[in-house]
Parts: sequence; structure tokens; C-alpha cells
Amino acid sequence: MSAYKTAGGALPPATESGVASDITHGGDLGAARAMFPGAPEPLIDLSTGINPNPYPLPALSADLFARLPDSTALAKLAAAAAANYGAPSAAHVVAAPGTQILLPLIAGLVRPGCAAVLSPTYAEHIRAAQLARHAVREASGVGALAEADLAIVTNPNNPDGRLLGKDELRGVARKLAGRGGLLVIDEAFMDVGPDGASFAGDVASGNVVVLRSFGKFFGLAGVRLGFALAAPPLAARIASLLGPWAVSGPALAIGTRALSDRAWIEATRANLTRAAKRLDAILVGAGLEIVGGTTLFRLVRSSVAAALFQHLGRAGIFVRRFANRPDWLRFGLPAGEPDWQRLQQAMAAFTGAAPPPVKTAPEHANPEGDEHASAAAPSANFDDAFRARLRDLLAWRRDVRRFLRDPFPDGALERLIAFAGLAPSVGLSQPWRFVIVNDPARRAAIRDNFTACNAQALAAQATERAGLYAKLKLAGLEEAPAHIAVFADRSTEQGHGLGRHTMPEMIDYSAVTAVHTIWLAARAQGIGMGWVSILDPEAVTAILEVPEDWKFIGYFCIGYPRTDDKVPELERAGWEYRRQAPSTLIQR
Ligand SMILES: Cc1cc2nc3c(=O)[nH]c(=O)nc-3n(C[C@H](O)[C@H](O)[C@H](O)COP(=O)(O)O)c2cc1C
Repeated sequence: MSAYKTAGGALPPATESGVASDITHGGDLGAARAMFPGAPEPLIDLSTGINPNPYPLPALSADLFARLPDSTALAKLAAAAAANYGAPSAAHVVAAPGTQILLPLIAGLVRPGCAAVLSPTYAEHIRAAQLARHAVREASGVGALAEADLAIVTNPNNPDGRLLGKDELRGVARKLAGRGGLLVIDEAFMDVGPDGASFAGDVASGNVVVLRSFGKFFGLAGVRLGFALAAPPLAARIASLLGPWAVSGPALAIGTRALSDRAWIEATRANLTRAAKRLDAILVGAGLEIVGGTTLFRLVRSSVAAALFQHLGRAGIFVRRFANRPDWLRFGLPAGEPDWQRLQQAMAAFTGAAPPPVKTAPEHANPEGDEHASAAAPSANFDDAFRARLRDLLAWRRDVRRFLRDPFPDGALERLIAFAGLAPSVGLSQPWRFVIVNDPARRAAIRDNFTACNAQALAAQATERAGLYAKLKLAGLEEAPAHIAVFADRSTEQGHGLGRHTMPEMIDYSAVTAVHTIWLAARAQGIGMGWVSILDPEAVTAILEVPEDWKFIGYFCIGYPRTDDKVPELERAGWEYRRQAPSTLIQR
């Protein structure tokens, strides 16, 4: 007890001003469904670091639910935890309904002073220290920890997997002890850490608390079970703050059985290692840079992280993003083969057309740039699986007119347009010109022009078709978050006139190939595009104030589609149907 300063009084109220709030955590499938309403079910939750293949639940006696938890059962659980985690004895173990509840209690063991949290890390540590009225500093290095009254490290760290050595931690603990400080080591993911890396065997030194989470490795987060490991006097103090019956009878039974099941524990560690390698292959194959993790999750860094988050979400796969690090995504492990397949396909769909892997600088997020960078790479080999997926892409590309209003992440539209650089063009003239139309007044003028032109087109319809025409939705100008107009620059000198002598209109056709390239790239990323041609080209040119030499090719609504369909909208509406190739083919 003498090795740390106690707070003495009651814990501060939860509404203490300056306490971090609104912390986002993984695993909230309700939020995922609200964010991606059209996503296919079942959702795949990769947003946590929880083992997706849990310990098999034992049959539980009804008594466990009917009676208060038994003290003998609690002692057995403590003994099983001590043995499994490597704590000196059961007297060094405090069982709790999850470690989360312990954080403010333990932070409150130290008189309000300075808390240093080795960051970035699990955000609740900062909130807990603030609740205990500490002035909290986020430390970027171990050195700053020893100067605090309360030092908190997560080891291995979430989300980057950084691992501190025991000697380093012993040094911090020693320095803190000299000043009456406390070291908290959150070993929530140590079950999958290297052998011998846990500090559990060192807690007897007196001013160290090690936290162990049951739910993550055993995949039973809902059981709410966790442990504090500490020297017996400190452990007793924590236990008294928790009070009696903190851990439910069913949790005692499940925890004791699971923690003693060496065979399952060893097999699971091996399975998780294999699964993490498989996840690595998918992530690396998609060109993502893995910057850390444990075998329960991987952290990747990418400048297209925001677009990938959206893409996966729309495919029903929920990963963890970080408010302060928009370039990070954390991937948990898929549960079984169907989930692995869905992840693999969704990643392939993203990379099939998404900007290529971005290692560092944003300028690499340009498909053209990557082509040049990889000039020395071997030529691409497309296999049968790819060919099948390409056909899927062509079959599932749609002209989209019904959009969600969700905006694109910053830069996503520009990156999509950059795919035009891969399109063919006469004489390599690249004559396409794109105008992103953001100005509300210009958008309104385009809408008005469409309305007028569409009314004229309706009036020109034969009587028997007019009724059906009037019902067609022929543009998504109102809802689509992005609008672009495409022009062909007929005056461009690029290409030195090659191929245009007899057919100057080849410049326009080249711009159309760019449109189609973007159309496919967009679809591969779950983005829909709709062509609006019911417009007066002269009016559009005037509204957008572009050079007169630019020939208007088309106006496009772009956004996340409300639905996916293999059948064109006009076919579904009964206007026209897609013929098979023979009717468009003659032989000479
Ligand atoms: C040059 C061109 C102009 C188009 N203009 C419009 C248009 O003004 N409004 C519309 O709703 N669809 C327009 N479309 C979309 C077609 O109606 C659509 O491509 C066709 O029905 C086949 O459907 P799919 O693209 O979903 O396969 C246009 C398509 C092309 C290629």
C-alpha cells in the first residue's frame, strides 16, 4: 500500500468537466447499419480485436443464474487466472466485470496529479484518468511516463501493436515507485503477445497493476470478464472498490473453464497466427501498408482509407476507422470461410479500380502516376477468376439515377476522375476535360435546363409512349452529391493531329472512352454514375463558362447508388430491353 498515493476521497463525478467524451469504439453494428443502410446482411464485423471464434460455452446450471455468485467459485476463477496469466498467486488477482470498469477505479487510487498515457492508444484510458481528476498528458515516448504520478501503457498497444520490453517497463515502475507513482499496464491483447512478454509475474513489486481482458482472446466479450493483477494489498483495495458479487455466476463458471483449457488456448493461438497471416496477404495484396497490430487485428495506413471504409461498409464489412487518423483502418479477423471470401472479393473490387496502393505521398494516389512508377514491373497476368470478375463488373455497371445523398470523402471524386488517364484516345491526345460542378447556382441552372429539355422531349413522344416516358426517372440531379460535366477539347495539339485528319470527331469519341473508363472504375468501388444527355449543349457550355472549343460530351451525376441491379433501369421500367449480340452483328 505504501508504494502509491491513494486518492483518499470518493471518485470524482462522471460529469467532471474536461473529461473526454464521445469516444467511438468498434463493434457497434447498430451504427454500422445506420451508416450503410443498403449493406448486405449479415454484416461482417471486423471493427474490433475480438476473436471471432469464441470459446465454446459450457452447459450452465440454472443455479448460476438464480443464486448470488459463490465466493469459492470466485477463488477458483482467481486461481485459474493466476495460472494462465502467470501472476504470482490468486491473491494477486482481482476479477471484475470487464477491465473497462476498473480503469477509473485504478486511476482513482492515485491522488489527483499528472497522468501520462503512452499514446496513441485505447481512448478510454485518458477518459478514466480525467475522471479521477488527473491532468492527463499523452506521452509519445516511454521517458515521459516516469515523470507522472500515474503512467498508463497498453502493451501490446491498440491499435499499432507497439510492444514494450519488460526491462523498459521495470525501469518506469522503479522510477515511479521512488515518487509514489503507479504504473498501469493494460495487457488486453497479451494473450496473443510473444511468450514471456507479460508483466503479470512482476506485479509483486507493488506499484504496478496489470489488466487482462478475458473477452478478446476467448471471443466472449459479452460475458464481461476481466482482471487486475497487482500486489495483494493493492489487489485487495481494488477488490473492495468493486464490492461483492462484481462478477456474475455464469461468468465465473465460463471464465474458470476457459482459462484452464490449455489445449484450446494453444490451438487458438496457432489458429489466430494463421488467420492473421491470411489477413496480411489480403491487405498486402490490396496494396495496403500494414503498420502494426497483433494477431487479433491489423492496422493499415492508406491515403484512400476513407474511401475503402465506405466501400467495405457498403459491401457489409465494418472496419474500424479513427477520427484523428483518417489514413488508418484497423481490421479484425473474419470468422469463417464465407466471411473471408466476402472480404477478399470486396478488397479485390476496391483495388480493381481504386487508386493504387499509396505508400506515402498523396500524389501516388493517381492511377497514371502508378503506371509510370511500375514501368519495370512484369506485365500483368489476368487469370480466370479475374476475367469472371471483370464480366461481373461489366454486367453490374449501371446507369444510376437514384442516389444516396452521402458525400464523398475528400479527394475521392478527383481520384476517380484520374482513371480517365488510362483511357484510349486518338493519337494519345487525351482530349477529355472535366468540370466538377459544385456551385449551387450553376447546378440549379443545369437542373432548370434539364427540366425544360425533358418537357420538350416528353412533348415529342408518340402518344402511346408519352405516359411511360413521363414516369421515367432520367436524372439524379437533385440527390447526387457530385456533378461533373465532360467536354472534348477539339483544339488540343496533343497527339499532333494523328488520326483526326479524316475524322475530327475522333476527339469526341476519345472523351467518351474516358467516360466509360470512369464509369467502370466507379462501379468497382461501389460508386454509381448516371449520364444526363437531356440538356442543351450550348446552355451547358454557357452555364459552366468553359472555352468555346470544348465540345460538350455529357453531364454526369455521381454518388453512392440506392440499389444495385443487374438489369438496366429502362428495362425494369418496360421502356426497352437489352438484345443479345447477334442482332447487332453482321458478317461480310
Ligand atoms: C450517351 C449516353 C447518354 C445517356 N443519356 C441518358 C440520360 O439523359 N438520362 C438517362 O436516364 N440515362 C441516360 N443514359 C443511360 C442509358 O439509358 C443506359 O445506359 C441504358 O438504359 C442502359 O442501362 P445501363 O447503363 O444501366 O446498362 C445515357 C447513356 C449513354 C451511353
